[in-house]
Amino acid sequence: ADVFTFDPGFTSTAACESAITYIDGDKGELLHRGYPIEQLANKSSYLEMCYLLLYGELPNASQLSDFEGRVTRHTMVHEQMHNFFRGFRRDAHPMATMVGVVGAMSAFYHDSLDINDEWQREVAAIRMVAKLPTIAAMAYKYSIGQPFVYPKNSLSYAGNFLNMCFAVPAEEYHVNPILAKAMDRIMMLHADHEQNASTSTVRLAGSSGANPFACIAAGIACLWGPAHGGANQACLEMLREIGTVDRIPEYIAKAKDKNSGFRLMGFGHRVYKNFDPRATVMKESADEVLDLLGIHNNPTLQVAKELERIALSDDYFISKKLYPNVDFYSGIILDAMGFPTSMFTPIFAISRTVGWIAQWKEMIAEKNQKIGRPRQLYVGEKQRDYVDVKHR
Ligand code: CMC
Repeated sequence: ADVFTFDPGFTSTAACESAITYIDGDKGELLHRGYPIEQLANKSSYLEMCYLLLYGELPNASQLSDFEGRVTRHTMVHEQMHNFFRGFRRDAHPMATMVGVVGAMSAFYHDSLDINDEWQREVAAIRMVAKLPTIAAMAYKYSIGQPFVYPKNSLSYAGNFLNMCFAVPAEEYHVNPILAKAMDRIMMLHADHEQNASTSTVRLAGSSGANPFACIAAGIACLWGPAHGGANQACLEMLREIGTVDRIPEYIAKAKDKNSGFRLMGFGHRVYKNFDPRATVMKESADEVLDLLGIHNNPTLQVAKELERIALSDDYFISKKLYPNVDFYSGIILDAMGFPTSMFTPIFAISRTVGWIAQWKEMIAEKNQKIGRPRQLYVGEKQRDYVDVKHR
């Protein structure tokens, strides 16, 4: 019989070669195309980073403005898609709506479905980077019963997203530049993370030759889980539930108790065993944004910081190398911006779309690319004979 390596959860299996993102989990290092995330988060912009992830190099000024032009040309969605949104219940989670709507893009954009055509792959990539903010904002507007807001291409990528979420026809809305910059940074910190669960899902779906919109919809579905992108929503809800610092020990005890089924959300990572560099930047950003907005003594931020401090001096968390991850502080910023928790994971999805597409494009361009097809260790019944229902 065949012998297979048993590696549930893929803790030690490299499924592909990739030149996009490098992580050294012990050192807490994250590089995109060789550039440290800290430098990108402080000096770059989300669209520039999209270019870097997709094409391998930082753009010069004219390449960047050409790229921005190509993206903004595609920010609107097909008008008929508005009807598609209206078929959902108002109280649907925006992620549920997004899985459906992004999957349905393959029914609207027939000229970017041929994965063997390099130009069509390129258009599909640009369409998704351009339209995901529009789709997420529409899911949000629909859920609160407000009219959809069309994209405004004079605004930045992040600023336009905020405008589509918060503007209403009845009054003037001006995007706060502090918030636009903070959103841009959140997007950069989530843009790619090598072979995480959703990216692996996109690659596996794509390995069969499925169209790119279907693959990204599969990625969004995977991201939604609380162990992955859903953790940002779960984390803020947990911090609010804790409420005050005096209740932290109770939650620490619960997280250490295996039978409780409870984990500290926004804590732990498969790869980072020292610290998550994205969390470090996010924490600084949370402080900065709340400060600039004049929000002092935010109770959720206080609980978060104290929870981090107590956990990081506790043997359980030290021995298991559990640290705050990217999802720990992001929710505090998004909350201060006015987003409900149900929008946290959609914002992660918008940001990660470029990573998914860059990885998908890299895979499709490979020579001799194979369908992803893991094997298993069979633990079921041996062969046996069928018994008629009368004799069971
Ligand atoms: N709270 C308490 N205990 C934990 C936690 C936590 N957050 N995370 C891991 N552990 C324990 C776990 O019980 C296990 O203990 P033992 O060895 O005694 O069985 C040990 O630490 C290792 O955990 P694991 O589940 O085997 O590790 P993993 O690499 O499979 O899982 C993880 C990584 C991120 C899914 C997990 O740490 C977790 O569930 N964290 C909470 C959810 C979360 O914040 N997810 C966001 C991940 S980062 C960005 C993203 O993808 O969105």
